[in-house]
Amino acid sequence: MAANDLPLRKIDHLRFFVGNARQSAYFYRNAFGFDVVAYAGLETKVKHEAGYVLKQGNITFVLTSPLSGQHPESNRLLQHGDGVMDIAFDVDDVTAAYRLATERGAKGVTAPTKLEDEFGTFELASIRTYGDTLHSFINRDNYKGIFAPGYRPIDPERYTATTAQPPKLAAIDHVVGNVELGKMDEWVNFYRRILGFEQLMHFDDKDISTEYSALMSKVVQDGTGRIKFPLNEPAEGKRRSQIDEYLQYYGGPGVQHIALATGDIVHTVKALRANDVSFLRVPQTYYDALPARVGPIQEDLRTLADLGILVDRDDEGYMLQIFTKPVADRPTLFFEIIQRRGSKSFGKGNFKALFEAIEREQELRGTL
Ligand code: FE2
Repeated sequence: MAANDLPLRKIDHLRFFVGNARQSAYFYRNAFGFDVVAYAGLETKVKHEAGYVLKQGNITFVLTSPLSGQHPESNRLLQHGDGVMDIAFDVDDVTAAYRLATERGAKGVTAPTKLEDEFGTFELASIRTYGDTLHSFINRDNYKGIFAPGYRPIDPERYTATTAQPPKLAAIDHVVGNVELGKMDEWVNFYRRILGFEQLMHFDDKDISTEYSALMSKVVQDGTGRIKFPLNEPAEGKRRSQIDEYLQYYGGPGVQHIALATGDIVHTVKALRANDVSFLRVPQTYYDALPARVGPIQEDLRTLADLGILVDRDDEGYMLQIFTKPVADRPTLFFEIIQRRGSKSFGKGNFKALFEAIEREQELRGTL
């Protein structure tokens, strides 16, 4: 197994390829409370695409839209709709990371490239992971600009988050990929072999099944434990799994959900709800059974029930989580908000209630 000779400092940013980055920036600003900090586009002499950089806590999102059908990535919009194009890693050495990854069998997409402007040198390279999703390796140790060449700061007077109730999102906790039937182990091995990740845990269809549908999931993480990628594949059930629905509407494998960590989930979910973010709901019976299942917790149970926040406990502590509905028209990408109080797990005790909630949504869409 590859030793940690390809160290990743952190997830630098998630890049979303979207139909209208300007309007998506408005959504992530006003609904999710991100600050829009930088822009690239015609006004900054970038001719082929527009880009917006959004920040909150340690989270960076980049929203990119093509400015014409000639953009090399424009077909993504037809095939996938809006979605995550790139999970970009900050690394010590872009060239070494790309060379090692491709030597071990990763498909190279962008060979190591240096971009320069008056603020210094920005390095990047990228490889392909599941579906059309990319992992870029980036380094801006010798770059003093706002984000990358082509980007300029945005007037904070105009674009700083102004939501009445700003949420408190702090970090990316994990990023989940949906892969094709029978391919989960292949992608687990990709992360082990190419990036030196280790498999942390797995859930089979006994853990993750309802009366109607099932899925399987394995979690890989980097050597530091800071970067966690659960990978799901559909499993046989009486009706169609949410993973099948995703694969159909996304047009292949891709990022299913992004879990954003907060230190105050009650405040954050109140703010997000006030900003019109829609969440999945579980029935009241879930909360009736909760005290017996998770024991004492700091939060007020009625508040959690009002907000629809879920709780799960393991040997190390507990965690609170909630899931949004899909954020685009296609039933593809959604978000999880998570607060960990000791637990490092993913809410196994909530899977059944949660997937039944998703099935009720699938039923409405006619995709169950
Ligand atoms: Fe999750």
